[in-house]
Amino acid sequence: MRIDHDGRTAIVTGGSRGIGREVARELVAAGARVLITGRRRAALEATAAALGPACLWRACHAADAPAAERCVAYAMEAFGRIDYLVNNAGTNPQWGPTIDLAAPLATKLTEVNQWAPLLWTQLVWRAGMRVHGGAVVNVTSIGAAAPTPKTGFYNATKAALDYLTRQLAAELAPAARVNAVAPGLVDTDMAAAIPDAERAALLAGIPMGRFGTPADIAAAASFLLSDRAGWLTGHVLVVDGGALVAGGRVAG
Ligand SMILES: NC(=O)c1ccc[n+]([C@@H]2O[C@H](COP(=O)([O-])OP(=O)(O)OC[C@H]3O[C@@H](n4cnc5c(N)ncnc54)[C@H](OP(=O)(O)O)[C@@H]3O)[C@@H](O)[C@H]2O)c1
Repeated sequence: MRIDHDGRTAIVTGGSRGIGREVARELVAAGARVLITGRRRAALEATAAALGPACLWRACHAADAPAAERCVAYAMEAFGRIDYLVNNAGTNPQWGPTIDLAAPLATKLTEVNQWAPLLWTQLVWRAGMRVHGGAVVNVTSIGAAAPTPKTGFYNATKAALDYLTRQLAAELAPAARVNAVAPGLVDTDMAAAIPDAERAALLAGIPMGRFGTPADIAAAASFLLSDRAGWLTGHVLVVDGGALVAGGRVAG
C-alpha cells in the first residue's frame, strides 16, 4: 500500500532521534514538509540535515507552553498550515516500584507524556486544524495495557494518553481524526536503559522473534495520518510483534 503525503505539513515532537526521527523520515519521503522538535539542538540539526530541506527544526521542551506556541507559530509561518501532529516526545525517568516514585518525577512524567500531547493538539487545532481539518497521532505504549514491576507510573501516563486519544477523537470529529500507536519494545535510546538479562526475557515473549524498529512504528503512524485511514479515529493501534496477544511480558 503506497501512502501519499504529498503537499502535507506536519509537526513531530521528539523528532530528533528514535521513533520520532523515523516518522519524520517517512513523512518527508512521502512528500510532506515536517517540523521536528526536541530539547537538544545538535541532534535536531543533524536529523534535519539528513532529511533535507523539507525538514525544519526548533528546540523546545514538549511541556513548555510558551515555547510550544512559538514552534507552532514558526510552522505556520513556514508552511501556512499544519495538517498533521505526531505527539511522540516521551520520557521514562523512573525504573523501580511505583510506590517509591518521587513527586518531581511524577510531575515530569505527567507533564511530558500526558499534558504535552493535549497542549500541542490545542495549539494546532487553534492554528487552523479546526477549520481545514487534519490528523493527530499520539505515541503511547503497550505498557498502558498491563502492570509492570518498574515502569508503573510511565504506564499510567500512557494509559491516560490512550484515554485522551478517544476523548479528543470524539470532540474534534469531524474536522480532525485522533489516533494512537502503541509500540512494544523498540530498539532506541529509551529502550537501551533495559538491562540485558531483562531484554532476553522480553524477546522470548515476542512471537515475531525480534524487537521492533522505529520503521515499524513509523509505518503505522504514517498510515493513521494518511487519507487511507479517513474513517479511522479514536483507535489505539498496537504494534508489538504480537507480545500482548501472546501474554508476553511488557518492558519494565
Ligand atoms: N522505545 C520503546 O521501546 C518504546 C516503547 C513504547 C513506547 N515508546 C514511546 O515512543 C516515543 C518515542 O520513544 P523513543 O524510544 O523513540 O525515545 P528516544 O529514542 O529516547 O527519543 C525521544 C525523543 O523525544 C525527545 N524528547 C524527550 N523528552 C523530551 C521533552 N521533555 N521535550 C521535548 N522532546 C523530548 C528526544 O529529544 P531530546 O532528548 O533532545 O529532547 C528525542 O527526540 C515515546 O513517547 C515513548 O514513550 C517507546
